[in-house]
Amino acid sequence: MIRLNFRRWWRGLLLVGLSCTLIAGCSVNSDSGKTLRVATEPAFPPFEFQGVGGQLQGFSLDLMNAIATAANFKVKFQSIPFDGIIPAVQANTVDAAISSITITAERAKTVSFSRPYFKAGLAIAVRSDNQDITSLDSLKNKKLAVQIGTTGAEKAKSVPGVQIRSFDSAPLALQELLNGNVDAVINDAPVTLYAINTGNLQGIKVIQQLLTEEYYGIATAKNSPNLTLINDGLDRVLSNGEYSQIYKKWFKAEPPSLPAKSLFENQANDSKANIITSLSIIWRAFPLLLQGALVTLQLTILSVVLGLVGGSLIGIIRLSDIKPVRWLARAYVDFFRGTPLLVQIFMIYFGIPAIAQQLGFTFNFNPLVAGVLALSLNSAAYIAEIVRAGIQSIEPGQTEAAQSLGLSSVETMRYIIFPQAFRRMIPPLGNEFISLLKDTSLVAVIGFEELFRKGQLIVAGNYRAFEIYAAVALVYLCLTLLSSQAFSKLEVWMNPIRQQRK
Ligand code: ARG
Repeated sequence: MIRLNFRRWWRGLLLVGLSCTLIAGCSVNSDSGKTLRVATEPAFPPFEFQGVGGQLQGFSLDLMNAIATAANFKVKFQSIPFDGIIPAVQANTVDAAISSITITAERAKTVSFSRPYFKAGLAIAVRSDNQDITSLDSLKNKKLAVQIGTTGAEKAKSVPGVQIRSFDSAPLALQELLNGNVDAVINDAPVTLYAINTGNLQGIKVIQQLLTEEYYGIATAKNSPNLTLINDGLDRVLSNGEYSQIYKKWFKAEPPSLPAKSLFENQANDSKANIITSLSIIWRAFPLLLQGALVTLQLTILSVVLGLVGGSLIGIIRLSDIKPVRWLARAYVDFFRGTPLLVQIFMIYFGIPAIAQQLGFTFNFNPLVAGVLALSLNSAAYIAEIVRAGIQSIEPGQTEAAQSLGLSSVETMRYIIFPQAFRRMIPPLGNEFISLLKDTSLVAVIGFEELFRKGQLIVAGNYRAFEIYAAVALVYLCLTLLSSQAFSKLEVWMNPIRQQRK
């Protein structure tokens, strides 16, 4: 009896403790007061980037710190992918964002912007030897690389007949141009010029004529009290000369004059949370997501087939009597299983063409080939282990019996061992298939528009992260459930006892 009460008492205490932690955790948001969490995507030099020591630096960082000192608050920077920044600001995951965000009417419907703090514009970048691209019109039917969710990506869509490849960061899009996989990149002019001038981007030039005139602003959630704080600080920094000091430090020039008022103020917020709008957003996204799902399936099937062939070979070699050959297979498995698939994808797609270029010949990958190659090399390592385990699980008596019947070792493998082993390999192969299906989302980094990237692209346009990613998850779930069903069917079908009964 006493023990029972004691337990209840403990449980109560635990509950109170838990609630306190939760409340404390939530209230960090509301009464942190002096410290603002500021999002940035630090792959956009000279505005925001990481120094050699990993510290954040750049024009925006200096400016934000100066604003904070002037308006008497503290800043805690958080790195967030660019296409996630506006959804994060909107959802109050961060208090503000400074990330060279162009103030556009569309964005001003979702978040609020400070007064403009920088004047920029888009420009086309091409390889130095390119003579035929001279304007936006000459981009017709060409291949373009852009950073996902940027004004550059939006501009690219306006060109008839272009093929657009979207990358997570601007440097990756520029690397794609350098590697010869696309004809041009549309990006913020100061960023491309900075990369060229610092010698980080050799062999690229910028078309002089700017495509747009844009202003950057600091974003906060709609009606956030932090906006006034930030604007006050910005006003002060602009008038006391600090702004022009920071500008000169990074751009070696006098700053141009900036509009004093916010642009696109009071844009109606049309993104109210409501189940009907959410459903209609998902409904509208579905055709695009299904297109992505087809690409995902295509990638998975191609890679699984190739992985199965490669993996079976390597698995069998792993059992070979010749030591060096066995070691080689072992080294293969260790490498591909021991390094992240993402790194392998980057190595193949960006690394190989880059090294080929340095060695003096041009070589570029079709993204499908690179994606399938990376996925199948990787899955072959896992499949090799499945095959090896399957073969080793068959009792040695089977081989002995086969050999006493006069079968050669190849025949023994072909007719006796493998058919039995294969049945045992089906469940782990099913696992591998499902893992691979989900891992295809990683090839989005090379601009491949499979299911996940399709979702990201939709979110970059409508900022409805929850609805779209939920729909993406749902489509993946359908695909994996269907495949696990298919594997169960295969398992039953391969069961000799069931077949005998028939
Ligand atoms: N100014 C462009 C835009 O707002 C690109 C900004 C990209 N910023 C970055 N940190 N990657 O769309």
